Amino acid sequence: MSETYRAIRLERFADTFRAATEIIEVPLTAPGPGEIRVRNRWCGINGIFDTQIARNAVDYVHVALPSFMGVEAIGVVDAVGPGVTGFKVGDAAATVNFRGGYREANVGPESLFARVPEASREWLALASTGVSALLALEHIGAVKDGETVAISAAAGGLGHLLVQLAKHRGCHVVAICGGLEKAAFVASLGADRVIDYKAEDVAAVLAAEYPARLDVAIDTVSGSIFDAFLGQMARHGRLVVGGAAQDLEGKPEIVTGPRIVHAIYYKGVSVRGFMNGLLTGHWPAARERVFALYRAGHIAVTFDKTRFTGLTGIYDGVERLLSGQSMGKVVVKIAEEGDTRWR
Ligand SMILES: NC(=O)c1ccc[n+]([C@@H]2O[C@H](COP(=O)([O-])OP(=O)(O)OC[C@H]3O[C@@H](n4cnc5c(N)ncnc54)[C@H](OP(=O)(O)O)[C@@H]3O)[C@@H](O)[C@H]2O)c1
Repeated sequence: MSETYRAIRLERFADTFRAATEIIEVPLTAPGPGEIRVRNRWCGINGIFDTQIARNAVDYVHVALPSFMGVEAIGVVDAVGPGVTGFKVGDAAATVNFRGGYREANVGPESLFARVPEASREWLALASTGVSALLALEHIGAVKDGETVAISAAAGGLGHLLVQLAKHRGCHVVAICGGLEKAAFVASLGADRVIDYKAEDVAAVLAAEYPARLDVAIDTVSGSIFDAFLGQMARHGRLVVGGAAQDLEGKPEIVTGPRIVHAIYYKGVSVRGFMNGLLTGHWPAARERVFALYRAGHIAVTFDKTRFTGLTGIYDGVERLLSGQSMGKVVVKIAEEGDTRWR
């Protein structure tokens, strides 16, 4: 009997990731010319994106059914095809590509993988979320040392790395998050002002303490937090839109109010979209920077306290992230070290 591995595949559109997908058996193939095969150890959870894909609600991604799910995974190369130059069996490899995340094995062109020191959750988070954070802050946000930077969902996987990267640039960081525990965590990372939106009115605090003083704001929540950031941008400020978690609540909100031209024109503010998948040409250099900052101890990765394993654990990981309770990066262990048997 031929060997197989398991992967999560979108079978239908539905309201939740769990209802839309199935775990299926996939024939294990040998890598072709220029391809490598990776046995995955860890994957990273992107529960908000997964849910929007499950609902067919991501405008820019055309999803044809069935379609594999997940974005980022890390593992160990267990076979290489003819002509592969960058990897050998036993090397650690990470990938950050939609459809390549929620699976026990990955077979594909070596160009879709990055060499990493170790197949650990740390290097996975750095190669995926770390690169996102760096590019959002520096490439799209064009941050300068010492500027004032506001960050929403600051205790999350992306947010906690953004806070550290901004602090490393000597910035004054205003961090927004929900709840006391998250607020204490973000403060421990060095954030200068933490606004717990469950206890304080973000717009009122910013208006009182940071009037027209936000040089860079990175928002992944949208709604009233986006509005609050937009209202207090400094001259030539850059408001980076890297997500819209609030859209999960239902239909996109219809907003009636003055057009944003008034908030941006006179102050020369720009509103910029950040989409990591569109910046692949910048990934190798960003990875090197993020890895160097990690090795030098300037940034650290915190993982959510929950522990999930196997493909079924991915469902729990997605639901944990959607609960709004997670702190740090949510990951799932796919296989143990030393696991060498396929099905
Ligand atoms: N554009 C890109 O290329 C890119 C790359 C990576 C991530 N992202 C986006 O960045 C955001 C953070 O991603 P992450 O994986 O690191 O997640 P995360 O921040 O670890 O978790 C999501 C957090 O968002 C906040 N949130 C606000 N409204 C929410 C809602 N309705 N449902 C669930 N959570 C809500 C919650 O924190 P609080 O309650 O503390 O606010 C929650 O803990 C996501 O929106 C993701 O899609 C974008």
